Amino acid sequence: MKTPIIAPSLLSANFGLLNGEVEMLELSQAEWLHLDVMDGRFVPNISFGFPVVEAVRRQSQKFLDVHLMIEQPELYVDRFAKAGSDLISVHWEACRHLHRTLQMIRDAGKKSGVAINPHTPVKGLRSILSSTDLILIMSVNPGFGGQRFIPESLERISETRKMIDDAGYSNIHIEVDGGIGLENAGAVIQAGATVLVAGSSVFGSANPQETISKLRAAK
Ligand code: DX5
Ligand code: ZN
Repeated sequence: MKTPIIAPSLLSANFGLLNGEVEMLELSQAEWLHLDVMDGRFVPNISFGFPVVEAVRRQSQKFLDVHLMIEQPELYVDRFAKAGSDLISVHWEACRHLHRTLQMIRDAGKKSGVAINPHTPVKGLRSILSSTDLILIMSVNPGFGGQRFIPESLERISETRKMIDDAGYSNIHIEVDGGIGLENAGAVIQAGATVLVAGSSVFGSANPQETISKLRAAK
């Protein structure tokens, strides 16, 4: 089993001390930082936008994984690219022309990702595999940190793993987002995930850096 990439979600960070939080993550074993952008329309919550992505970019050498939970993401792809994202994920459910939007992300010189809600059938992604670098499987309903992992997500991860392996796209990352902690990280990796997002389990722990290392070592 390959060591997973850990992507701490800044949604659970202390925004009053954002510099310090990013500094702490720079010194951790996390390879990616996960940034959750919410518009109050696609999801019933509003988080942050360009200035925060830019601020994190100025301070971090890590790979910035930007998860757009917004309607019509195609209108903002270029600005999130310029803000310093390394990878931009858009939601399947928010894109009328998903293939075109993924192309826009790649044309902007960034890696592309597709996120899917817990009810969206995994097999719909089969037709866009050549245009994506990552599939982001939501294991909670998007919008908030600190929710419980939906158990059926494990089957969805295995199904995605099988689909991409069978189609010859094994290098596509499978990222899982929502409710991940030390108690279930092993099962999520076993099912086929390569990137684990973790918000509350990292920032809510006494020693976030140690929690990141433990998540990375989970089996
Ligand atoms: C939820 C976000 C997640 C969130 C995860 O909509 O996409 O990235 O921050 O938080 P936890 O790990 O607390 O479930
Ligand atoms: Zn997310």
